[in-house]
Amino acid sequence: MNSATQLKMMGSSPAFLSVLRASRLVAVTGATVLIQGESGVGKELLAESIHEASRQADGPFVAVNCAALSETLVESELFGHAKGAYTGAVAKRIGRIAAAHKGTLFLDEIGDMPLSIQAKMLRFLENGECQPLGVEQPARVEVRVVAATNRDLAALVAAGQFRQDLYHRLHVVPLLLPPLRERGQDVALLANAFLASFATRHGVALPAFSRSALELLRSHTWPGNVRELRNLCERLVIFQAGQEISDTCIRGQLFPHAACGTNKADFTPALAPFSLPSDGLSLEWVERNLILAALERTHGNRTHAAKLLDLSRDTLLYRMRKYALR
Ligand SMILES: Nc1ncnc2c1ncn2[C@@H]1O[C@H](COP(=O)(O)OP(=O)(O)OP(=O)(O)O)[C@@H](O)[C@H]1O
Ligand SMILES: [Mg+2]
Repeated sequence: MNSATQLKMMGSSPAFLSVLRASRLVAVTGATVLIQGESGVGKELLAESIHEASRQADGPFVAVNCAALSETLVESELFGHAKGAYTGAVAKRIGRIAAAHKGTLFLDEIGDMPLSIQAKMLRFLENGECQPLGVEQPARVEVRVVAATNRDLAALVAAGQFRQDLYHRLHVVPLLLPPLRERGQDVALLANAFLASFATRHGVALPAFSRSALELLRSHTWPGNVRELRNLCERLVIFQAGQEISDTCIRGQLFPHAACGTNKADFTPALAPFSLPSDGLSLEWVERNLILAALERTHGNRTHAAKLLDLSRDTLLYRMRKYALR
């Protein structure tokens, strides 16, 4: 179990509390749970808290990252193997499934499980029998299954990338963790708790958010969700120990590239002030935040903000309406 478990799941927004309540109800049953939600919303933390509130809390919690399973080794990784089952199998190996016996098997990133493995997983989920490679007698394994994904499993089924029968086997009790941007009041609560926890961990004086900083946190769209907020708070604790944290300071941490050279002549790919993250980003999100940054720098003066963005004032006003900015 990761260190995050030491920090309980926090939140007070109605959207979050309703998922938390449902998770408490299902935790004490043995039902299979499928947790869905964007990256960084807390799916793994929720899976751990379901385990902790379950009847098998004293048993192991075994997490398997299905996206990281290599197709060649996956069978022995999940199901185990006997000594000599194949060339290189010099010793017996207990698979991850058997390791979770009488505990919780957390199938993380289930949407990325290779199709070839999905059939074997389905067989195990249906009969509870785990057959290591090279072993004749399958063993009965009792596990509570919690799966998680940030992908739209139903769409993967429709696209033929995920088995429908496995989908139905997992989709017993679905829990959808909403993105942080839809959990308004959770942002300040989490941000203050993260500041306090990191200040203690790093042994530095606790900084405090200014009002405008909290407003900015509230209006940010958090594409990386709680993980993004948590990482931001750790940086703020390190760089602003004991100080008041302004909105400008947060902007600098959230958009470190935005302040770099704006001379258009310099805008060659090699010198581009922005770099595209490997998993892409939302252009609308960037545009919205650049508009906010320009308005902030010009203290709300729209004519000057439009100039900074090389837009006409009308275009800026149109885009502000589009993003519901005032
Ligand atoms: N409600 C919460 N309270 C406190 N910490 C949280 C909460 N939700 C998430 N976190 C923290 O945010 C980070 C990301 O959470 P987690 O790893 O559970 O997200 P995830 O949904 O599994 O992300 P991914 O899809 O990228 O795997 C972790 O450090 C976790 O401890
Ligand atoms: Mg995760």
